[in-house]
Amino acid sequence: MTATLKLQELVESLREQIRYHNYRYHVLDNPEIPDIEYDRLMRELQRIESENPDLVTDDSPTQRVGAEPVAAFGTVRHTQAMLSLDNAFSEDELREFDRRVRQRLEMEDESQAIDYAAEPKLDGAAVSLLYEDGKLVRGATRGDGTTGEDITHNVRTIDGVPLRLRGKGYPRVIEVRGEVFMPKAGFEKYNEYALEHGEKTFVNPRNAAAGSLRQLDPRLTAARPLDIYVYALGFTDGVEVAGRQSDVLDQLQEWGLKTCPERAVVSGVEGCLNYYKTIGARRDALPYEIDGVVYKVDRVAYQRELGFVSRAPRWAIAHKFPAQEELTIVNDIEFQVGRTGALTPVARLKPVFVGGVTVSNATLHNIDELHRKDVRAGDTVTIRRAGDVIPEVVNVVFARRPAGARKVRLPKKCPVCASAVVREEGEAVARCTGGLICAAQRMESLKHFVSRRAMDIDGLGAKLIEQLVAAGRLTTPADIFSLKPDELSALERMGEKSAVKLIAAIEKSKATTLQRFLYSLGIREVGEATAATLAAHFGNLQAVLDASEEDLQQVEDIGPVVASRIVAFFAEEHNRAVIAALRNAGVSWPEVESGLLPSEGLLVDKTFVLTGTLENMTREEAKAQIQAGGGKVSGSVSRKTSYVVAGSKAGSKLDKARTLGVEILDEGQFIRLLAG
Ligand code: IVH
Repeated sequence: MTATLKLQELVESLREQIRYHNYRYHVLDNPEIPDIEYDRLMRELQRIESENPDLVTDDSPTQRVGAEPVAAFGTVRHTQAMLSLDNAFSEDELREFDRRVRQRLEMEDESQAIDYAAEPKLDGAAVSLLYEDGKLVRGATRGDGTTGEDITHNVRTIDGVPLRLRGKGYPRVIEVRGEVFMPKAGFEKYNEYALEHGEKTFVNPRNAAAGSLRQLDPRLTAARPLDIYVYALGFTDGVEVAGRQSDVLDQLQEWGLKTCPERAVVSGVEGCLNYYKTIGARRDALPYEIDGVVYKVDRVAYQRELGFVSRAPRWAIAHKFPAQEELTIVNDIEFQVGRTGALTPVARLKPVFVGGVTVSNATLHNIDELHRKDVRAGDTVTIRRAGDVIPEVVNVVFARRPAGARKVRLPKKCPVCASAVVREEGEAVARCTGGLICAAQRMESLKHFVSRRAMDIDGLGAKLIEQLVAAGRLTTPADIFSLKPDELSALERMGEKSAVKLIAAIEKSKATTLQRFLYSLGIREVGEATAATLAAHFGNLQAVLDASEEDLQQVEDIGPVVASRIVAFFAEEHNRAVIAALRNAGVSWPEVESGLLPSEGLLVDKTFVLTGTLENMTREEAKAQIQAGGGKVSGSVSRKTSYVVAGSKAGSKLDKARTLGVEILDEGQFIRLLAG
């Protein structure tokens, strides 16, 4: 045997192995070897072929992407017309279809049920694949059903399309039909990529599939995540393939073509309805888009007997699911304020039935999204509602935009409380600054205000706040301090005793610290540590209120973003009014020595380790106080540790401090140290 012959055998063997693993992976969805092993086989074949170009054949697994784009699409005349399907939109229409089928077949006895081959109706693009002597020689679009476009160069790039049929026994000429689709995950990923790279996004997976197939350059198609399921036999050179549609598909699958794993044979109309329900319930969980299910009379002999009307077979029908996309008109665009103050643009729609319900609002997510889609009042838009996902505006039909439709701008004032709206550089979300007075944010700000690390009002839980807000008794945090025992005990699940207890807790909370007070206001970006730094730096509330952005940026750890948040908050008259009301109600704190920069603090260069439980403050408060004094807090004890602060139940850190001779402070000593 010559060297070339041997090489030829090796090449053939590699191809056979690769085809076999393609089949396991794509058709059976049951790979036998890891991807890396497959890649090795592929690389080996590529290497030999590149060193021996005369051994390359068209159907080699390496030859999916042709070298050159085509100049234009050729046309293909379908030997057998590619038909469409009639639709049934209701159970009645389906029963009517089954009745007609049985009537024509003279099987009108109710007990004689027809077997139907059922499968999902895939939402993609129909294609025809032609194999001669087992080799893929042509791929075509459906076109008008009679003539389509030659897209051979593109279908070859789809991994699920075998370049060669498997086994033996296939007719010399065989044409199959199927649906090329873009799985949902691939569609999402592709659109994300397109957005990032400033390329055009696809409106839905169907357009994505159809658009990808109509590329002149196959390299572009190859980069799109396409897949295929075949669902029918087209023209064959006279060979009878099988007696039933379901067997035809089994046979095609054995020859290496992918069929839908959800396909089934069902009995009679009841079987169809069951199938419709089962698939419908799984619609959102399926990895690809479907818009219904298709039933085909399973026996090929019956199909022949039934024949065709105009462009559709009498033996098949598409049972459609409720549409997930519809067109409607945008009456208005409003901004909703969320519990955290975020403004979300919402389209108010002319009510439309979509995804099984009537939809009259759709989210536009945020202002950038609104501008990207350029939705305006008066526009005709596509609304999508899939499963339980909230309805959204997919796109605008620009051709139907009325003259004078005006671009939507972000409001300057909160639509709920009229406070200023701010949007930080580089942030998608715009927010209302009326944190203390905005009704939309009321629940959140009240819950935060009373929380343990803020004003620490024991016994005023979320449920109680909800009741008080609903009763109109709580509008701002200041209202908490005018609550009376009898109005509290009148509330649900509130006895006299607990009412008295709560009033006592409210009273007690009035004596607080500036740090806790600043933190309780719920200013965005102002957590406990920042509140402590502000308190230590400015010493009194008035100085914080008066601080400009520049002043604030002088404070350690406060950057431009935090500074602007603080200024925006205090610039809001409503917020100042609530602060004044709180002070009038008796909320007070000891003044802290002012003008102290943390770098000049008492604790500069000191490292603390906290262990055990402190009685008078939380660990975060202790940490914030140390930091406010310019000190550092570390998690572990070493020779460099200045102090270990030991609360009750202190553990191994205390032992270690003793071993290393590090100074140990109890809580009282620690508080005295903080006080200077
Ligand atoms: S059978 C003669 N089965 O629906 C029957 N079609 O409205 C030909 N489609 O152009 C079609 N999934 O693109 C069939 N499982 C399926 C299908 C399916 C999607 C598409 C196909 C066809 C259109 C007809």
